[in-house]
Amino acid sequence: MKLLHVVGARPNFPKLAPVHRAGAVRGVEQVVMHTGQHYDDAMSASFFASLGIPEPDVNLAVGSGSHAQQTARMLERMEPVLLEHRPDWVVVYGDVNSTLAAAVVASKLGLRVAHVEAGLRSDDLTMPEEINRIVTDRLAALLLTPSRDASERLKQEGEPDEQIVFVGNVMIDTLRRTVQQMGLSRPATLQDDAPVAVTLHRPSNVDDPTRLGTIMAGLRDVARHRPVLFPAHPRTQRQLEQAGIGTDGIEMSGPITYEAMLSLVMRSHVVVTDSGGLQEETTALGIPCLTLRDNTERPITITQGTNQLVRDLTAIPALVRAIDAGAPKRPAPEGWDGHAGPRVIEALLAR
Ligand code: UD1
Repeated sequence: MKLLHVVGARPNFPKLAPVHRAGAVRGVEQVVMHTGQHYDDAMSASFFASLGIPEPDVNLAVGSGSHAQQTARMLERMEPVLLEHRPDWVVVYGDVNSTLAAAVVASKLGLRVAHVEAGLRSDDLTMPEEINRIVTDRLAALLLTPSRDASERLKQEGEPDEQIVFVGNVMIDTLRRTVQQMGLSRPATLQDDAPVAVTLHRPSNVDDPTRLGTIMAGLRDVARHRPVLFPAHPRTQRQLEQAGIGTDGIEMSGPITYEAMLSLVMRSHVVVTDSGGLQEETTALGIPCLTLRDNTERPITITQGTNQLVRDLTAIPALVRAIDAGAPKRPAPEGWDGHAGPRVIEALLAR
């Protein structure tokens, strides 16, 4: 069996790592295509190095642009690579533009697409990722879901049962492996100076200066009482500068490595974020999470985890104060057990 994995943006890399490793163990022929959607070392190469993913075989170097420009470059540059390799499966991850582009090009060439992290829905079409999820799932011949509710959603949308396989959460494979490799553990009791870890990058939060200003005012308030560490996505750094929004008291930095982020999260009082990945990682680790969004495509992180949606942004300081960081840990959702990567490979080999 020959697999061609397509990745492009930061959240794809911790998902690829366990699937690629499991494929190597089973002697599967594998090609890695990087679209180049993310290209800074801190957004891409550092992840390949630290997660033990081999260098991409192909890099399409599409870079940044509007959604149409970026996706168009991907479509055009992917086609000859897929034609050259003609894999048994094109494996796509998550919900970024690279995922969508690969699903479209592969399907039109008659190549089978397997979608890792299928079935997530925010029901919010103003999110570019929601469009990417819907199109990718519609085209994929194998829908590999991270949770039972995602499988249910796909059935409701009319996807055939035999195309849906619940495999669990591949990103949690990487999380558990790294926690173990680094010997990380959550401090038994957190002191008053345990930090608040912040990440923000969604256009809905950072491209609107009023909304970003309200969030940052709340974080400046929090920073008067405890450390606030904010490794900012390049997009967010740029928006903060352009809008002239103050960061007084907040420890700002650029993007940090996977390991550095994990060790920060592990010792945090709470994580404040709009990332999909962090909603899941905090749930798996039992660390409180405030998600600055009106909705989530990962409701299991609320019903079975530590996540809380924050719709009133002026409530951030009060919500951070109210967090009980010592609340008993709930069991992680089913299949978030560190063995999802091998289940993906078994599902592919079974077809
Ligand atoms: C993308 C994904 C989003 C994911 C996020 C994780 C889509 C639609 N969005 O959003 O789902 O959660 O990645 O980070 O695919 N930039 C750099 N260096 C880089 C990459 C980007 O400076 O290596 C800057 C550029 O100014 C660029 C901007 O960030 O225009 C946005 O990058 P882009 O890939 O378009 O989207 P993200 O916001 O990163």
